[in-house]
Amino acid sequence: MIDLQYHLDGTMLASGGLTDADLAQLAAPLTQARDQVLADAKVWSTGGPASAGRDASPDETGPLDAGFHYLPNRLLEELAEKGDASEVARIGAAADRLAGAVDKVVLLGIGGSYMGARAILEACCHPYYNEVAPTLRQGRPAIYFEGNNVDNDAVQGLLDLLASETGGWGIVVISKSGGTLETAASLRIFLRELAESVTDPSELGQFVLPVTGASGKLFDLAHALGCPDVFSVPDGVGGRFSILSAVGLLPAAMMGLDIQKLLEGAAAMNEHFKTASFEENIVLRYVAAGHAMEEKQGADIRILSTWGKRLEAVGLWYDQLLAESIGKQEKGAMPLTIVNTRDLHSRGQQHQEGKRDKYITNLIVESSDREPLAIGESENNQDQLNELAEKTLPEILSAALAGTNQAYRDDQRPTADLVLPKLDEGRLGQLLQMLMLATVTEGRLLGINPYGQPGVEAYKQNMNAILRG
Ligand code: PA5
Repeated sequence: MIDLQYHLDGTMLASGGLTDADLAQLAAPLTQARDQVLADAKVWSTGGPASAGRDASPDETGPLDAGFHYLPNRLLEELAEKGDASEVARIGAAADRLAGAVDKVVLLGIGGSYMGARAILEACCHPYYNEVAPTLRQGRPAIYFEGNNVDNDAVQGLLDLLASETGGWGIVVISKSGGTLETAASLRIFLRELAESVTDPSELGQFVLPVTGASGKLFDLAHALGCPDVFSVPDGVGGRFSILSAVGLLPAAMMGLDIQKLLEGAAAMNEHFKTASFEENIVLRYVAAGHAMEEKQGADIRILSTWGKRLEAVGLWYDQLLAESIGKQEKGAMPLTIVNTRDLHSRGQQHQEGKRDKYITNLIVESSDREPLAIGESENNQDQLNELAEKTLPEILSAALAGTNQAYRDDQRPTADLVLPKLDEGRLGQLLQMLMLATVTEGRLLGINPYGQPGVEAYKQNMNAILRG
């Protein structure tokens, strides 16, 4: 059962928004798109395109990487069947092994190979995870992200940090292709430093946890280093859809999170997507509203407005997911994540009075983990806050959200609300799976293959040609 909710109240406006009829007319095409998404997924639950007698490139515009869809179900089934020998259990054991041996982990990866881990960390861990005493992060290692750029000073800054503190460190390196230059170059540099810092360089591989494809340069290097645990990105699971494979699960386990709950949340969303009618289906209605706003109102900038601080990285992960999946054939809405109330003070003006090309979805967490903190009384009432002394930070955030929605409604600027009752592994699993399913469903609705990223190849080839002369 899912408990995420999606409310379209602020979208159903007299002008500037949609009517019930606008959504209703998408019921048939979207139900058809869902059927295609389910059929694509079935190919991967029965052994992949070859065994299903299907071409891996059904529309000749890219791969059919629909393996992400039932991956949570497959991993959970395998866990129930095989217990300690299952991939989920092995991921947990490998994460515990490295976490027990080091204080810090450098996670190397770019795009879909790191954004999910960062999203999970920011959503589910202590807000100052790396800085707090280890007891406040269950004794798990601090985690630093690199290999997601080629910034000379940033890399050396991290090396300074690693060298200046006592306690060992290790590497999690993630690259499906195993050949991405940013990640590979960083790995070479960090391995060199790690070899200097370990007592016995022949044991270097013990401190490196690779996640990669079933073959390739990183795969070969991992074996040459003698890494005891190497995890694979399963066939049919593309980078930005890989968050619920070892790509996201291994870092999540390293953070001490409950990875089974993440998978259960995703599996519940799969069931909802497959069985709920168009009227009840939050994935289909989310796609319908975004698509109809673009078609009818020309709103091709989709703002994911996160409230509070913890979902920014989930938003950035989603920006990448939507942009790389749908931004093809000169189509595709422009995703943009903002964080409120912070960005009301930097972008709010434009959203209230700028071009009517934006559609805002609020991403709301209903309850905070910690006790609500009140403003409180003070002898120094120069700020005149004593009359609000009883008000808590969650109440102020709610008032800001209600006030913003009202201001947009008064100006005929549509908004929708996507609500999580709480932010934990189960709800995050629901949300991540919902956004991945929505993205591929929209791709099928638009006639765009959501998998692959042919446009990114040009820069890679040019960069390599320039470097190799
Ligand atoms: O979504 C994608 O496929 C990309 O963002 C990739 O994850 C990114 O390019 C990194 O690729 P790789 O994992 O092969 O290093």
